[in-house]
Amino acid sequence: MKMFSTLSICILVAQLQTSLAQVSIVGAGKKVDPYHYEVVKNGQFRRASVSSAHPLASMVGAAIMEQGGNAFDAGIATQLALAVVYPGAGNIGGGGFLLARQSNGELIGLDYREAAPSKANRDMYLDKNGTVLPALSQFGHLASGIPGTVAGLFATLPYAKLPFKTLIQPAIDLAEKGFVITEKQVSSFNAERENFIKNNSHPVAFVKEGKWHVGDTLVQKDLAATLKRIQNEGAKGFYGGETAKLIVAEMQSGNGIINEEDLMNYTAKLRNPIEFDYRGNHIISFAPPSSGGIIINQMLKMIEKYPVGTFGFQSAKSVQLMVEVERRAYADRAEHMGDPDFWKVPVKTLTSDKYLTERMKDYTSDKAGNSANINAGTIHESEETTHISIMDAQGNMVSITTTLNGGYGCKTVVGGAGFLLNNEMDDFSVKPGVPNMYGAIGGEANAIAPGKRMLSSMTPTLILKNKKPYVVIGTPGGTTIPTSVFQGIVNIIDFNMSAADAINKPKFHHQWLPDMVMIEKDFDASTKKQLMAMGYKLVERDGIGRTEAIRILSDGKKETAADVRGDDSVAGF
Ligand code: DON
Repeated sequence: MKMFSTLSICILVAQLQTSLAQVSIVGAGKKVDPYHYEVVKNGQFRRASVSSAHPLASMVGAAIMEQGGNAFDAGIATQLALAVVYPGAGNIGGGGFLLARQSNGELIGLDYREAAPSKANRDMYLDKNGTVLPALSQFGHLASGIPGTVAGLFATLPYAKLPFKTLIQPAIDLAEKGFVITEKQVSSFNAERENFIKNNSHPVAFVKEGKWHVGDTLVQKDLAATLKRIQNEGAKGFYGGETAKLIVAEMQSGNGIINEEDLMNYTAKLRNPIEFDYRGNHIISFAPPSSGGIIINQMLKMIEKYPVGTFGFQSAKSVQLMVEVERRAYADRAEHMGDPDFWKVPVKTLTSDKYLTERMKDYTSDKAGNSANINAGTIHESEETTHISIMDAQGNMVSITTTLNGGYGCKTVVGGAGFLLNNEMDDFSVKPGVPNMYGAIGGEANAIAPGKRMLSSMTPTLILKNKKPYVVIGTPGGTTIPTSVFQGIVNIIDFNMSAADAINKPKFHHQWLPDMVMIEKDFDASTKKQLMAMGYKLVERDGIGRTEAIRILSDGKKETAADVRGDDSVAGF
């Protein structure tokens, strides 16, 4: 049972229709037509569903489950499809986190975050005078960490049911035969044209003779060949052989430092999830090297003592309280969080009742708090990470956030291999106290070291109600990720909203430094006024996050919602 939403676009290509429209991407009689498709924002599905950043990727995930795959199969296939149809963030050259609860109740936290190359050092982005060189940590070869995604896919495989060959085939077809790009992708490719030219010595698929137009098809032959190597050789098809050679050659053609051993030695790691109760619900989220799970644990526990539901949705009273807990949690992020294999993160203390009560001692309900020693950083607007929420008919819940960091990562495509590399190194604290591209500040805990994983904000999250699957949620958005997930959870639990409302209502964000509340354009005007009167500095900004959520309704249906801020789309059956 599908409900097509208002924001539904139909993409038609006159020239290609007749010759290509019959391509069946997913075999077994289940067609995903890459030349005609629409964005579907909401649906209620009886058995299984997916919400992701691109309609084709969601359809691939749902089709895989219809063919007998479970939510893990869908997670693998959807990520691979996103690497083709959503190259700004979907990836095989980046990394991510998968958080899952199996139908038997077992939890899985899979960390396939990028790692610093063996030749990295803590001052690698500073000049002789110790000044930060952001161009190096954000663009080109040196910005890339060792990619983790392919290792993550293979570490997920033991939980899946179908052969890997089947799961990767839709992505291969989409790359080889092409797909029609959306209007948003047309603008994005045109806007990035000069960046692609500047950061690449080989021709790249995202740059064509003239401008991209609505209805154009993107074909990625080099990427298809790389995906086939992975299909035939497994993870070695990426971390070894031809692909590894191409990555290392690309590194050597620029100022990159990733070498063959770095690739060979990369492994995905299991992490014990962060778990806590909030108003009778059980919340499960990601542990370090993500800061997300700890931050939402802190924020939700700090507001739990207040009857937020009675304050009114986005009343000055509820927003002010939530802003103040955001401020406190993000201050802790800057000081205490980093890769747990290199830095002892005091998880227990940071999330203990005693500590959080103490943190709220100086809270006053009608006055803006103050982040002393303000060192304002500029918040980067282009944010490209991507989230996938999946539930299947067996009761598996899968929540995956994966990233290249900035839009199109470091903008460098591996010559001959057709995939973009990440610029995740910028998520390290390149110099204590100096903000990164998301304005995040850090210190020793998140300093660069060989093999270390950079601190993340990605917050793939699950909620159980009465010990049963209830919600799968997550989002991109850099440092705004934990606040988006926090607000999504509060909207569902405290304000009884549908999944769609919970993710689409205007959001706000405070991250300690810079000391300001970022708000989306349609944020309530009277609340704005009252917050300013309390002493808050409000700054309007573009959309915060692109959250994908699935919530189980009392009749068992999966209410599946995709964020209205992008081409995000749901699919299910
Ligand atoms: O891991 C992190 O926190 C960042 N690299 C995420 C970047 C991001 O969300 C950008 N996307 N919208």
